[in-house]
Amino acid sequence: MYARSRGYATRAGLVPEHRVAYRGFMASQQGDRVPIDPQSIEAPLSAFAVFLVVTIAEGDDAAATAKAVVSDVESLVRAVGIRDLDGQLSCIVGIGSTAWGRFGVAVAPSQLHPLTAVEGRVHTAVSTPGDLLFHIRAQRSDLCFELERLLLGKLGRSVAVVDEVQGFRYFDTRDLLGFVDGTENPTGRGMAAASLIGQEDPDFAGGSYVVVQKYLHDLDAWNALATSTQEHIVGRTKADNLELDSAPGSHKELTTITDADGTEHDILRDNMPFGRPGSGEFGTYFIGYAGDLSVIERMLERMFVGEPPGSYDRILDFSTAVTGSAYFVPSLPMLESLAGN
Ligand code: HEM
Repeated sequence: MYARSRGYATRAGLVPEHRVAYRGFMASQQGDRVPIDPQSIEAPLSAFAVFLVVTIAEGDDAAATAKAVVSDVESLVRAVGIRDLDGQLSCIVGIGSTAWGRFGVAVAPSQLHPLTAVEGRVHTAVSTPGDLLFHIRAQRSDLCFELERLLLGKLGRSVAVVDEVQGFRYFDTRDLLGFVDGTENPTGRGMAAASLIGQEDPDFAGGSYVVVQKYLHDLDAWNALATSTQEHIVGRTKADNLELDSAPGSHKELTTITDADGTEHDILRDNMPFGRPGSGEFGTYFIGYAGDLSVIERMLERMFVGEPPGSYDRILDFSTAVTGSAYFVPSLPMLESLAGN
């Protein structure tokens, strides 16, 4: 399942083939401009991930330390990742709107703002604190652990951890509800087009927006449903992972965003299951990248309020969003240049 791709070697290690194509696409998008390397948003589905959300302590010193550490995060990734290149360690840094302001950059990406809570009739997509998001992925949990350990050591007292989730890949990329998750993700050129900011906000091209939400499942209640009912809620068959011909009000339908002219808007997701059976905790960590933050906001609106209002996503009757936050993911050169501000 985790096929190794060929690629070329750099100081940072092996750059897999899919990434070469992705960068080529970004370069062609930039025309004559210097090609912009995104962070490793397109890294392949990994066996493990850590989602770490922190807030930055008060004061200029804390902001300066946090900025210095995030701008140099790639050197930590190199230091740990070189110990097993097949482990494909990567780390994406997302920066929240308040933190961006504190980092001393005069302009902000046009859509960067805290996640707006969405209150539906029955369920709410909460908005919770978060200045920095670290999305760490690898094929080995020890690589994720080691990077997180070193990262937090460098950040020291400049940050407080508000959430930390260790995700794992569950069988054939299923979530804990038992459905294959991630099938309709865009691939190839579609992936860059969906996940990266383009020339509509040229100063931030090659960057992205990311939204995370931690969902806790009531698995007993979910598993008490007939499989056919679960399938109508998700919009796909459970065993074979096939799209249902008709599934009005399903998760699939509510998260499909189509303009009046028929244009469909995708996002790039890398959800991960997490849990502690001994404590009765079973969850899905939702993570979605988009070049246009409003696409994810429209999905949340349709899931929580419903379309038409009231016909909300029934996944939410069994899954509670206990966190929610939004970040800007600068391109790699922009992230590295933050230290100079
Ligand atoms: C409890 C949380 C969630 C679970 C368990 C979940 C699970 C799934 C599953 C099983 C699919 C079908 C297979 C696939 O294409 O991936 C799916 C599709 C999708 N989900 Fe979710 N999801 C969750 C939350 C969200 C949220 C919060 C969003 C967006 C804000 C979202 C956006 C999407 C999109 C865009 C698709 C693809 C729709 C299509 O084009 O067919 N999901 N999700």
